Amino acid sequence: MIPISRPDLGPEEIAAVAAVLGSGMIAQGRKVAELEERWAEYCGVKHAIALSNGTVALMSVFAGLGLGPGDEVITVSHTFNATVSSILFTGASPVFVDIEPDTYLMNAGRIEAAITSRTRVICPVSLFGMVADMDAIQAIADRHGLTVVEDACHAQGAQYRNRRSGSFGYGAFSLYGSANMTTGEGGFVTTNDDRLADWIKLYRNQGMRERYHHEILGYNFRMTDIAAAIGLAQLDKLQRNTARRQTIAKRYEEALADLPIRLPVWPDGRTHVYAQYTIAVGSARDEIVAEMEDAGVMCGIYYPIPCHRQAYVLELAIEADLPNTDAAAAGSLSLPMYPSLSATEQDLVIEALRGSILRHAVSIGGRS
Ligand SMILES: Cc1ncc(COP(=O)(O)O)c(C=O)c1O
Repeated sequence: MIPISRPDLGPEEIAAVAAVLGSGMIAQGRKVAELEERWAEYCGVKHAIALSNGTVALMSVFAGLGLGPGDEVITVSHTFNATVSSILFTGASPVFVDIEPDTYLMNAGRIEAAITSRTRVICPVSLFGMVADMDAIQAIADRHGLTVVEDACHAQGAQYRNRRSGSFGYGAFSLYGSANMTTGEGGFVTTNDDRLADWIKLYRNQGMRERYHHEILGYNFRMTDIAAAIGLAQLDKLQRNTARRQTIAKRYEEALADLPIRLPVWPDGRTHVYAQYTIAVGSARDEIVAEMEDAGVMCGIYYPIPCHRQAYVLELAIEADLPNTDAAAAGSLSLPMYPSLSATEQDLVIEALRGSILRHAVSIGGRS
C-alpha cells in the first residue's frame, strides 16, 4: 500500500538521538536551545520557543495574548480541530469565516463582516503548506486594532512575498510525525514579541525561571532534547525535502492537468510546500477514495467534518454559514505526498486516480 505520508528518517536522526541518549541529558537542554536558535533564524524572527506539540503552541500564544471568556477569535472551520480547541481552552470563542474554494484558505473578504466589539485576534491557517493572504488579513487587523496569529502547523518553509511562514507576528508550528519537518511530537511558537516569548518560556516550564520559584501558573509543555536532536537533523534536510515535494507536485500537475478536477493553486508571490497535495473531485469523493485504496493507494481526507459541525462545537451553538468549507469537506481528497515517493509509486497513484475519475464522470472544472 502506498501511504499518504512517510517521514524521511534515517541514519542522521538515529545518530543524533544516540548522541543525546549517550550524553545523559535527555530532557529540555542544549539541543532544544540549538533548535530554537536555528528555527528563529530560518523563519527570520527573534524568538522560536520549542514546545511539546502544535496544539499547545497555539494555546500558549492565545493565553499569552491574554485571551479569555468574552473574547472572540476569527478563524476558519476547514482546519484541524486544534485550531479551534486551542482558542476554546483559553475561554475565548471562535468565530468562523469561510475559505476560498480554490486555495482552501481563509477568505479575507469575509473577515470584516465577522468583526464585533469582542474580536481580539484573526487566526488564518496556512493549510496544506501555503500561507493565506497575509497582506489583506494584516491590513484588516491594523484597521481594527486586532492581532494576527498564524496557525503555521502545516507550513514549515512556506513563503509569502519572500517572508517565511511564522514571521508575521505570531506563528505556531506543529512537528508531528507527518509534518514536513518532524520531531515525532513537537511544536514552536515564533514571534518578535519579547514579552510574549518570555511569558511562553515560563508558561511551558511550570511558571519557573528559577527552579522551584513559580512566577506564573504554568504547565509542562517542554520539548525533550531527544526530540530536538531529531528536529535538528530534519531541519538540515528541510530545503531538500521541500524541493522534492515541489517536484512531486509538478509531476502530479502535469499528469492530471487534463482531468475535470481542481488541482492546487498558488497565487502570485506565494510558495507552496505541499504538506498535502489536495484536489477537489466533488460528490464521488468517498467512492474514489475507496477505489484508490483497492488499487493500493491511501488517500487522505483533510478534513471530513468541518470544525463547526463537530459534536462539541455544535453544543456551543456558534452561527456559521460556510458553503465553501462544507464543499471542501465533502469533495476533496489528498494524494500521497512525501519526499521518498518514487516515480513508480507516483505513476500508480496517477493511474488509479485517472481511472477512478473517468469512471465516476467527475466534473469540477479546472482552476478557478
Ligand atoms: C492546522 C493544524 N493546526 C494545529 C495542529 C496541532 O498540532 P499538533 O498535532 O502538533 O498538536 C495541527 C496538527 O496536525 C494542524 O494540522
